Amino acid sequence: MRFGVVCVSDRCAAGTHEDKSGPRILELIAPLAQESLYRLVPDEKEQIKDVLKSLADTDHVDIILTTGGTGFAPRDVTPEATTAVVDRLAPGISEAIRMKSLAVTNRAMLSRAVSGIRGKTLIVNLPGSPKAVAESLEVLLPVLDHAVETLSGNTQNCGGSYGK
Ligand code: MTE
Repeated sequence: MRFGVVCVSDRCAAGTHEDKSGPRILELIAPLAQESLYRLVPDEKEQIKDVLKSLADTDHVDIILTTGGTGFAPRDVTPEATTAVVDRLAPGISEAIRMKSLAVTNRAMLSRAVSGIRGKTLIVNLPGSPKAVAESLEVLLPVLDHAVETLSGNTQNCGGSYGK
């Protein structure tokens, strides 16, 4: 699978803070990733939209994972940028992540993260901390291969055996 990893953070983009969530994602997806393209953008809706469109339409990655900008802070606009560029929403992914995350922290309900599909690229918002991305990927990673398989039009394995 080919991944795009996008850190959305004013502070990291300005160079005043180090991005710890993006590298954590890269570490966790390494066993699945043939290639990972990393991008860093500020909390600017148009810039987030541009990077998502470029990773999907030009780089043709299978999956884009964003980290940060999903909360209630005035500049948190990652879900709005994502919603603006996807053709179809995939709400089950974000619902599952929030549901499982609520067992860890009730603050999980403060993430407004969304998931959706642009062309053949799945885009999933993750919250902006190394702990939150690890907890979220624990939910998402086991279904990613089947998600990518069906996105490419192969639905043969839908009725096959699977873990859960
Ligand atoms: N989800 C998990 N699994 N673990 C967490 O620690 N933190 C929450 C939530 N989701 C958290 C989580 C908190 S404190 C916030 S404010 C929101 O994600 C939004 O985070 P963001 O604005 O960094 O995207």
